[in-house]
Amino acid sequence: MLKNLFAIKPVGPAPHVDAGEPIEGSLDGEATLKRTLTARQLVFLGIGAVIGAGIFVLTGQAAAVHAGPAIMLSFVLAGIACAFAGLCYAEFAAMMPVSGSAYSYSYATLGEFVAWFIGWNLVLEYMFAASTVAVGWSGYFNSLLTSMGIGLPTALAAAPLNVVGGEIVHTGGLINLPAVAIIAAISGLCYVGITQSAFVNSIIVAIKVVVILMFVAFGLQYINPDNWVPFIPENTGPGQFGMDGVVRGAAVVFFAYIGFDAVSTAAGEAKNPQRDMPIGILGSLFFCTIIYIIVSAVLTGMLPYTELGTPKPVATALEAYPKLAWLKTVIEIGAIAGLSSVILVMLMGQPRIFYSMSKDGLLPKFFAKVHPKHQTPYIGTILVGVFAAALAGFLPIGLLGELVSMGTLLAFATVCIGVLILRKTRPDLARPFRVPFAWFVCIAGAAACLYLFWQPFREHWTLMVGWTVIGMLIYFGYGYRHSKLRK
Ligand code: ALA
Repeated sequence: MLKNLFAIKPVGPAPHVDAGEPIEGSLDGEATLKRTLTARQLVFLGIGAVIGAGIFVLTGQAAAVHAGPAIMLSFVLAGIACAFAGLCYAEFAAMMPVSGSAYSYSYATLGEFVAWFIGWNLVLEYMFAASTVAVGWSGYFNSLLTSMGIGLPTALAAAPLNVVGGEIVHTGGLINLPAVAIIAAISGLCYVGITQSAFVNSIIVAIKVVVILMFVAFGLQYINPDNWVPFIPENTGPGQFGMDGVVRGAAVVFFAYIGFDAVSTAAGEAKNPQRDMPIGILGSLFFCTIIYIIVSAVLTGMLPYTELGTPKPVATALEAYPKLAWLKTVIEIGAIAGLSSVILVMLMGQPRIFYSMSKDGLLPKFFAKVHPKHQTPYIGTILVGVFAAALAGFLPIGLLGELVSMGTLLAFATVCIGVLILRKTRPDLARPFRVPFAWFVCIAGAAACLYLFWQPFREHWTLMVGWTVIGMLIYFGYGYRHSKLRK
């Protein structure tokens, strides 16, 4: 049994693929995913997935509660962990241009059981992230409606429960309707096709980036450097300010970086994955890191960090300056557009991971069914949409966000370790991109991700253990018995 659990899926050298060629493992005549995405579209896909609720929603809370102005430092720390992981993703994605991302990489290096575990954690990363961001989207959307005098009542715009200081409290909400609606709308788009999705994504990303640059350009003039002193406020308890708070803040804003790895789920649909995957992954990560550090500097410079703890800190900073009132509406519209693209990429990624798992026999066959006309994994797309909408409608953003970060950090750590293992077991494979100083980068990357994972895990370990148990039941109930590798 142990041998079965740790069976490794052999990887062959990836053949060069051209636009329009079917992806790996497809049968002749069977509908498959299409290779249409260019390097530029991949970078846009990355930025589309990365810049979202992290910067527009969570930064303020992280500064107000954990790090103060040193939230900039938290962004640097989380950025370093992501850069290490990003290099490892780039090596894998160029070498194995498949849709399964960390799941497929683990299957090739650490065996089926670990692959399942990581695939299951990717559900936290993708599906739960779509829900988390949808809740943030709903906040900005309802705020815009309210400013037009047509805001929804709390009962229809908030989850029924929230977790405050470990206690479950009623919020007065029944369902977060806008969050459900945006998931339904974007799922519809994903159903229709990846080319259309990438096109819509590029437009949204352009709006989002322009709006952020406007915030920086106008906000710069209102910075008061006194707000940056003390840069690291004195520690007031576990995770509250001081260096401890900076690290806790890094675990919170880590959420803001999630998504550059989602580029790797489009590897099966990239025109020239060997060259373009590293460009897409590292390019988007680099761009977003710079933007985050600048935005957090402007935010904490415009307002004392103690006043930033709102669900829409960027708008809050602008509210303090009447001359910038016009920009607030622009920012709200930009955030609404920007958060939509994150939801789009996440909802696009999840069914593609299920597609890979289903091709391997670990999930039922219908997840690998491709729509004859739209060439998308349509059944998976519908199912993911339904579950993501339910989560977004009924769970609070804080809890969802922490689950997303934990699942993602485990996947990142595994990918870092996987690079080293595959270098040992398959030194022969062609690697169009190689992690530089691999021993250092991979080990430091895995250690940094596990350290950040530990921060929220201390508080939410019961949920993580519960999630893992459900995953194990599905694996032993279905995947273990249907695994193609064993047949
Ligand atoms: N990084 C993405 C966001 O911040 C998930 O919304």
